[in-house]
Amino acid sequence: MKEKILVTGGTGYIGSHTTVELQKAGYEVVIIDNLSNSNEAVLDGIEAITGVRPVFVKGDCTDLETLKKLFKENPGIKGIINFAASKAVGESVQKPLLYYRNNLNTLINLLELMPENGVEGIVFSSSCTVYGEPDQNPIDETAPIKPATSPYGNTKQISEEIIEDYVKSGAPIKSILLRYFNPIGAHPSALIGELPLGVPQNLVPYLTQTAAGIRKELTVFGDDYNTPDGSCIRDYIDVVDLAKAHVIAMKRMLENKDTAAVEVFNLGTGNGLSVLQLINAFEEATGVPVPHKIGERRAGDIEKIWADPKKANEVLGWKAEADIKDTMRNAWAWQCKVTEK
Ligand code: NAD
Ligand code: UFG
Repeated sequence: MKEKILVTGGTGYIGSHTTVELQKAGYEVVIIDNLSNSNEAVLDGIEAITGVRPVFVKGDCTDLETLKKLFKENPGIKGIINFAASKAVGESVQKPLLYYRNNLNTLINLLELMPENGVEGIVFSSSCTVYGEPDQNPIDETAPIKPATSPYGNTKQISEEIIEDYVKSGAPIKSILLRYFNPIGAHPSALIGELPLGVPQNLVPYLTQTAAGIRKELTVFGDDYNTPDGSCIRDYIDVVDLAKAHVIAMKRMLENKDTAAVEVFNLGTGNGLSVLQLINAFEEATGVPVPHKIGERRAGDIEKIWADPKKANEVLGWKAEADIKDTMRNAWAWQCKVTEK
């Protein structure tokens, strides 16, 4: 058995897929989640895929005492992957304090408890949102950080700074900041996937719900952008590829003594796809039509952004491998499973 890892937000979308990959790699996982945006039944899916049920603590990471108790009851945690956060961009504009409190207090509590509990490293879920609208694409990690366009985005920028300042102060920890591009898809088993509460804000869950007939039609937010077909471009990364990068990052942090105390990596495919291209890929992959119309631009949207993932490819030895059509088929299989229930 390898080291014990604490996965905060582990019943969430990316956390559940990462728990599967950590367990497959032999790590022992302890999850803490307050179930504010996920469901305990996710643990059944993780167990069905890996044969192992992770230790689960229902609790809130903004509560220091809960975390102290967790470390006491689960001694020997060597690394943390911090997924726990509120993540809806629009909601963060309406409720900024909720976002600052949840996302920042969670991180600060974890950082504070790491040294005294012998936790050596923390992987942090950051986002390409820190780059704002890029001056050029693909974008690499040396690109400037632009002013955040939402409180949510600002929590990611501030969190990166908090980690850097804490490490600079001499705290005996390491950290890897992973800047995700657009995670999509589901586990190929269709046993875990994304479970958006209410009306989805993100493209792929809205698309699959439309294909399933739950939503009447998908609105493409603008076709007058400066892109080949006029719709926005993103770098869509398969969630299983993304999950695997966390396992590599954790191993590097814990086992490689010569790496810098804080490292930053883009996690993307390196390919940009427009909204219309993604709809097309879904229809071709599944044969299921997606009723859609062109609508107004969505306020605050970035026109085009895709990753230069060279650093992650070369330094981590990680590469996004999934074919977009397989990713779309997995997203659809998961949607069908959820709709059946
Ligand atoms: P998610 O909402 O599915 O997962 C987050 C989990 O954290 C949820 O299960 C939620 O219940 C839990 N949680 C929230 N606050 C908590 C708290 N205070 N204590 C304990 N648990 C708490 O989101 P996700 O898509 O899996 O995202 C995971 C991380 O990746 C987040 O930090 C998010 O900001 C970041 N990220 C996501 C995307 C994306 O598009 N999905 C892109 C970039 C970065
Ligand atoms: N879109 C539509 N119709 C929809 C939903 C989305 O056309 O119904 C378009 C958007 O305009 C955008 C693209 O699809 O061009 C992707 O939109 P998402 O909302 O899925 O993703 P974003 O790139 O806007 O933002 C996401 C997360 C952020 C995260 C960012 C970078 O929501 O939290 O990726 O990782 F910061």
